Amino acid sequence: MAVTLVIGAQWGDEGKGRVVDFLSRGASVVARFGGGSNAGHTVRVGDKTYKLRIVPSGVVAGVEHCIIGPGTVVSPAALVAELDTLEFNGVDTSRVWVSDLAHLILPYHIEMDKAAERERGEDALGTTGNGIGPAYVDRVARTGLRAGDLLDLRRLRHALFARTHELRARGIALDLDATVADLARQAERIVPHVRDTIALLHEQLRAGRNVLAEGAQGSLLDVTFGTYPYVTSSVTVAGGACAGLGFGPKEVDAVVGVVKAYQTRVGGGPFPTELQDHDGAELRKRGAEFGVVTGRPRRCGWLDLVALRYAVQINGITHIALTKLDVLDTFYQLSVCTSYEDAGDASLPFAIARGARPVYESVPGWLKTTVSAHAFEDLPYNAREYISFIERHVGVPVSYVSIGPERSQMIVRPGAPVAVAASAR
Ligand code: GDP
Ligand code: IMO
Ligand code: MG
Repeated sequence: MAVTLVIGAQWGDEGKGRVVDFLSRGASVVARFGGGSNAGHTVRVGDKTYKLRIVPSGVVAGVEHCIIGPGTVVSPAALVAELDTLEFNGVDTSRVWVSDLAHLILPYHIEMDKAAERERGEDALGTTGNGIGPAYVDRVARTGLRAGDLLDLRRLRHALFARTHELRARGIALDLDATVADLARQAERIVPHVRDTIALLHEQLRAGRNVLAEGAQGSLLDVTFGTYPYVTSSVTVAGGACAGLGFGPKEVDAVVGVVKAYQTRVGGGPFPTELQDHDGAELRKRGAEFGVVTGRPRRCGWLDLVALRYAVQINGITHIALTKLDVLDTFYQLSVCTSYEDAGDASLPFAIARGARPVYESVPGWLKTTVSAHAFEDLPYNAREYISFIERHVGVPVSYVSIGPERSQMIVRPGAPVAVAASAR
């Protein structure tokens, strides 16, 4: 085993955190390759709930090394707060490593993010307000600061000073002394975690250890392949793991696509299978669909297999982890989108933007509880049929089925990658 990728296959919040936690036992490294604290990954162990933002979810299971990779954007303030909260809850964070190449999110990025949203008015993207977009803009504009810069505060001050004019012209007053003083305090806490994560990763790979790359956001939020401009600013698809951590594609053994048994989206943008009716409200209520980061109600709808087939292609998904199947337990009948009408000859993001209409097939519900199933065979017949229906339409096996938020509520099917890890529990 080498690298297993865990990727969100929809619009985020598919349950990546709980899948990563489940697979963590068999890995020595869990690494985030993109995004920042716009992510909110939930891990439930017994009656304890952990909400991870930038720290890899493997930290809860006590994985040897948790890497915040070169492709991420890190807010020092948010990272300090997260490390403190984890430690307070008894989680050891001593082996959380931040790549010196990761870019920093500074308070002015957050101001810019919020100002840009205000300017967009009714067309606001609905960002999480964490400064993600402006920090990635600075990276490509070559004006950003990196975690490695926290080791040399004089240089960092100089670099910040060089930006004061430009920021003032944009209406942002940068208090240099206060900003550097805050960074100096945060650096004390963060610097012991900053290192060359590339060397560490390759050391582990050479030693034959398993690495899990933890995706953030979802494929339909990818800056290129998502429903642009209603996307995040990072590469969220599988290819981003190599570019965001620094390894070659040949290292990848499996790509696990995390798929919610229905569909949700938080923030603006088109959503073909969105439900505005009683069923949508029922999905939100049963699935507790409220954002981890912003608390916003998530928009809910039926599973979209056209979008899922696209996600399988652009990520090279080899296995699906289907989550929140239990949320569908009370539905008499389910609808699944299997094709689009009026899609024209366009890529999926353009087809969706131009108002492609979903065509549904009806599938009978099972009206039985699934939450205590231990094996696939324990699931009601119609639930197993629902899973087979998905497999037939997307051509990829559903190797994990999650039937509750708790660590133990996961069914592993034969042929699943890192099955060794799961059975080692
Ligand atoms: P992530 O961002 O992809 O890690 O997902 P989030 O943590 O934002 O959202 C997933 C939510 O669903 C969390 O509250 C999880 O605790 C919860 N969850 C995950 N898997 C299941 C499941 O199989 N059943 C139910 N009912 N809840 C789940
Ligand atoms: P996890 O990792 C769901 C969405 C925001 C907004 C858009 C841009 O928990 O699945 P940003 O702050 O990134 O500039 O916002 O992307 N978004 C997410 N939606 N889950 C996430 O992360 C998200 N991260 C960003 O709601 O629509
Ligand atoms: Mg989330």
